[in-house]
Amino acid sequence: MPKSTVEPKPFIKWAGGKTQLLPQLARLFPERFEGYHEPFVGSAAVFFHLYNMKQRGELKASMRRMSLTDSNDELVNCYRAVRDGVESVIGWLEEHKQNHGPKYYYAVRAQNPRNMGDTERAARLIYLNKTCYNGLYRVNRKGQFNVPIGRYKNPSIFNADELRAASRALDGVTIEAADFRDVLKRARKNDFVYFDPPYYPLSKTASFTSYTEHPFGKFEHESLALVARALSEKGCKVMVNNSWTDFTRRLYFGFKRVELKASRSINSKAGKRGKISEMVVVNAR
Ligand SMILES: C[S@@+](CC[C@H](N)C(=O)[O-])C[C@H]1O[C@@H](n2cnc3c(N)ncnc32)[C@H](O)[C@@H]1O
Repeated sequence: MPKSTVEPKPFIKWAGGKTQLLPQLARLFPERFEGYHEPFVGSAAVFFHLYNMKQRGELKASMRRMSLTDSNDELVNCYRAVRDGVESVIGWLEEHKQNHGPKYYYAVRAQNPRNMGDTERAARLIYLNKTCYNGLYRVNRKGQFNVPIGRYKNPSIFNADELRAASRALDGVTIEAADFRDVLKRARKNDFVYFDPPYYPLSKTASFTSYTEHPFGKFEHESLALVARALSEKGCKVMVNNSWTDFTRRLYFGFKRVELKASRSINSKAGKRGKISEMVVVNAR
């Protein structure tokens, strides 16, 4: 693998991506920890950020035990394929880049990813994600990706060196399709667990919960708060993001709850893109 000094960063766009909140979140990361677990991995923005901090010697963390999980198996396959077969993923992406156009996009969209090899399937996700409308990953009830082509003139579909850097960062990391509750089996004392669930909606129309076929409702939020409490009692360092509402504040009673301001770019109402309050919850610093 060619050597490069490129730092890894998210290579897919994900609704709720945490890149812009990172400076605010970073102030609340635990000062030291051992393993790291991210049960709603999405674009892995926090993982890559922590990894880069560690490489620069800015983090007191062993990070020997790490897991990145999500219930979206398309996404999970993508991380595994980048970890285990990055050159093959790059090869498939070169092909997509050369052929990109409306006809080609819809032909790729119509393919069934379950009939593909892992690296071809990963490249399909990255290609569609970078060329589709608004970079939004959305599936219908049957689990089929159904977003139309985006209006980009020259979409930058991938950067080979960044993918290689991501592959190195993912080396040795457990990557699995799993429900968030599974982290109870993985996390040990002094590990850091970062949760970024689909947010509890601020209003009935503001919800975006179709990352997978299963919506994330009130019951799931209550379960998540119980998981956070159980981990906290085990001696783990926990951080949870959510919307800033009466319901979510009450769920994390006893934790430190901080209000953050974020400007959200993916919203069901295109006009509503102002700053909104978000919540971050921590049990330790
Ligand atoms: C807000 S996104 C995470 C965003 C991520 N932190 C980032 O920076 O891109 C929420 C993620 O939760 C996943 N998800 C939804 N329900 C889940 C469940 N029950 N267990 C695990 N993951 C779930 C979705 O597939 C989605 O990737």
